[in-house]
Amino acid sequence: MANVVVVGAQWGDEGKGKIVDWLSERADVVARFQGGHNAGHTLVIDGTIYKLNALPSGVVRGGKLSVIGNGVVLDPWHLVKEIETIRGQGVEVTPETLMVAENTPLILPFHGELDRAREGQNAMAKIGTTGRGIGPCYEDKVGRRVIRVADLADDATLELRVDRALVHHNALRAGLGLPEIDRDALLSSLREIAPEILKYAAPVWKVLNEKRRAGNRILFEGAQGALLDIDFGTYPFVTSSNTIAGQAATGTGIGPGSIDFVLGIVKAYTTRVGEGPFPTELDDADGERLGTRGREFGTVTGRKRRCGWFDAVLVRQTCATSGMNGIALTKLDVLDGFETLKVCVGYELDGERLDHLPTAADQQARCTPVYEELPGWQESTEGARSWADLPANAIKYVRRVEELIDCPVALLSTSPERDDTILVTDPFAD
Ligand code: IMP
Repeated sequence: MANVVVVGAQWGDEGKGKIVDWLSERADVVARFQGGHNAGHTLVIDGTIYKLNALPSGVVRGGKLSVIGNGVVLDPWHLVKEIETIRGQGVEVTPETLMVAENTPLILPFHGELDRAREGQNAMAKIGTTGRGIGPCYEDKVGRRVIRVADLADDATLELRVDRALVHHNALRAGLGLPEIDRDALLSSLREIAPEILKYAAPVWKVLNEKRRAGNRILFEGAQGALLDIDFGTYPFVTSSNTIAGQAATGTGIGPGSIDFVLGIVKAYTTRVGEGPFPTELDDADGERLGTRGREFGTVTGRKRRCGWFDAVLVRQTCATSGMNGIALTKLDVLDGFETLKVCVGYELDGERLDHLPTAADQQARCTPVYEELPGWQESTEGARSWADLPANAIKYVRRVEELIDCPVALLSTSPERDDTILVTDPFAD
């Protein structure tokens, strides 16, 4: 039986929601392995819109187990609210359908405050985060002072953990001009939320390994995108987790050998939210057109996304770092009607031609794209369900993308509707 990892191959917002939903129907277990409620996944099922941030997409489908792995950072208050919202939409969430790893770090209110204070502090240090405390919580995790789900079960441990975190955070807050954390108020709100979270707590690594042995299909649902990876992304303009496929193993507790297929989600053009380098960014009418036609506004923060041409260099790079077996190409229809299309095939830096994005931030910022031009198409590709429905130039575009990124198209998505999908390779096929 196959286990599939889905990751974004660009800067997030590649349209993972629809693909993950499509695949989750075939899966028995859907697991999140990194990120937190900075993610925004919109699912449309039978006309109902579900907006998920922290919950795995499988939660809206009956008969699946949804798992929040240890690689995630979890805001317990947000989780409870999110569960209440989807319950209000008729979705059943129980400890049988949702499990949270006992070793998952908790995002506490002071993480969000620190995130926002830093972002507001000076323009030089601004990353353009979602302000949800993701970075500060991961810092505490590696700093060995985070509070984890299991700590909620024992009051003495909880107090100890809180005190340890406060020593660090109160010193930091004093430097930022923020008031001291109210220890008692924090402890009492943690005690209050504890039972709401503990009922879902489980040794996820064990459950997943048992499920895997029993022949269940596991879908590992990535959030954000590979170019926001803390190691391989456009550092420091990245998120604070590993977003590439290898994290599916460490972020849940399965061995890397259990991953059978890595599917990269790739948008037919490029977008980015927040600060940071973006070699193919367009500040002109073409960029506006991509943004308008593609409805490129952030689902979490509502920010307008920056738009640009497809960057094959970057996607080739992320296909390599995640070991993609295939890609799902999304939003091809947004390119309908362009006279010509540009695809970035290399960079120029100080008179030299590069076939990858350099690591140094100053060099990244100075790279200029080398473009290849491809003929556009005037026909609509929206809703196409077979190759025969696609104009010849659209097929040429897709084939050229495959060649340039060195990875085949497994799926092609031609509208937000789940059935508007062309299947080439089923990632779950044995
Ligand atoms: P953080 O994850 O809130 O720390 O934000 C760090 C960077 O990642 C910022 O540029 C955000 O805009 C970006 N980011 C975080 N989550 C998402 C997402 O789900 N989609 C796209 N960009 C994201």
